Amino acid sequence: MQKIKTIAIAVAVGAALSLSSGLAADAAWAADAKKGEKVFKKCKACHTLKGKNRVGPTLGGLIGRNAATTKGYKYSKDFKAAGEKGLIWNEETLSGYLNKKPGPKKWLGEFLGKKKAKTKMSFSGIKKDEDIANLIEYLKHATK
Ligand code: HEC
Repeated sequence: MQKIKTIAIAVAVGAALSLSSGLAADAAWAADAKKGEKVFKKCKACHTLKGKNRVGPTLGGLIGRNAATTKGYKYSKDFKAAGEKGLIWNEETLSGYLNKKPGPKKWLGEFLGKKKAKTKMSFSGIKKDEDIANLIEYLKHATK
C-alpha cells in the first residue's frame, strides 16, 4: 500500500513539474515574441502583417509558403526566380535572408547561384541573431 502511495505521489509531482515547465516555456516564448514585435518596427514601413501590400508584399501567411506568391504584388525578377526555384519561408530561410551577414541581396543571390540578387527590398538586414530569432517567433503567430 505504501508503495502505491509513493508511486502516486511521484506521478503527481512529475505531472505538476512537466505542467509548470510547459508554462515556463510558454512564458519564455511570449517574451521572445514581444521582443520580436519591437524588431518588426524595422519592417513596418514597407510590410503589413496581414492584408494590404505596401512598398513590399504583405507578410500574411508567410511561414511555410513559397516566396513571391502574394497576389497582386509585382515582385522583382530575381524574387520570382527564387520562388520558382522552391524558396519556402521558414525559420531557417528567414534567418538567412534577414541577417545582415551576408545581407538579403547576397543571401538571395547565393540561393540563385549568383553573386548578388537584384531585389526591390532596400533593407540591409538585422545585426543580432537574437533579434532575428525573436522577430521570427513574432511573425510565426502575427502573420497567421
Ligand atoms: C524599405 C522597404 C522594406 C523594408 C524596410 C523591409 N522590406 Fe521586406 N521587402 C520589401 C520589398 C520591396 C520586397 C519585395 C522584393 C522584390 O520583389 O524584389 C520585400 C520582400 C520581403 C519578403 C519576401 C516576401 C514574399 O512574399 O516572398 C520577406 C519575407 C520580407 N521582405 C521580410 C521583411 C522583414 C521581416 C523586414 C524587417 C526586418 C523587411 N522585410 C523590411 C521591402 C522592404
